Amino acid sequence: MATALILVLVVVGSVGFHLLSPWWWTPIASNWSYIDHTITLTFWITGVVFTAVVLFMAYCILRFRHRPGLKAHYEPESRRLEWWLTVVTGVGVAAMLAPGLVVWHQFITVPKDAGDIEVLGQQWAWSYRLPGKDGKLGRTDIRFITAENPLGIDPKDPDGQDDVVILGEDLHLKLDQPVKVLLRSTDVLHNFYVPEFRAKMDFVPGMVTFFWFTPTRTGTFDVLCAELCGVGHAQMRGKVVVAEEGEYLQWLGKQPTFAELSARSNKLAASIGNDEGDAQPTLE
Ligand code: CUA
Repeated sequence: MATALILVLVVVGSVGFHLLSPWWWTPIASNWSYIDHTITLTFWITGVVFTAVVLFMAYCILRFRHRPGLKAHYEPESRRLEWWLTVVTGVGVAAMLAPGLVVWHQFITVPKDAGDIEVLGQQWAWSYRLPGKDGKLGRTDIRFITAENPLGIDPKDPDGQDDVVILGEDLHLKLDQPVKVLLRSTDVLHNFYVPEFRAKMDFVPGMVTFFWFTPTRTGTFDVLCAELCGVGHAQMRGKVVVAEEGEYLQWLGKQPTFAELSARSNKLAASIGNDEGDAQPTLE
């Protein structure tokens, strides 16, 4: 009797906690409400199954408990029951998987008007690159990575000269403008995750992975790394600011391009060369 009661309490407690839980999603700020719907559907299906199975257990414990003189009924096989359980389980699993296929198709179908954004993940910071006025990101290669060129942009590629480079600063996005996020890592696996955007994707060293979304709400959102990437994993944080077009363009205008950054570091190198001794030749 006590065991059956505990099982019933487990069901009531679990369902109650789920419904009244203080830990729920942050309010959504992107187009990916589908992700929320599929999770809700999974919660419903698994919740109903969990409740039914545990309550059935409680019923069996009570109904078939030991009583003097009562002999257990021996029934090793029931074809009808097996069919019935197979069909119900099959329908339940299909109902959880099928919507995922539809959502995945949308997830990998990037809209034509989506603008590219590159995120570079490295232990343990985020850097960003936006295509300049030409709308194209320049070529990159790890061979070009230096202290002055941490993103490894090909200095000879004209497409890369006007690329906007954001190092250690917040990423800004334009409201309602779809973005294709290209993910590149220089060391280990990372994962660019903004909970409000719902969508996320792993960085895999040696390849460029991507996902897309449309920011639908202005505000400042936390960026978390969602893939264990070493001792600094928990500190691998950042901020994304979603703003109206005017505010966004104002911010964009203040960001340096790759050409400007290169010129700046060349100048700095030259001035250091001068300080060390006027006899030394400089690059200029
Ligand atoms: Cu990067 Cu965890």
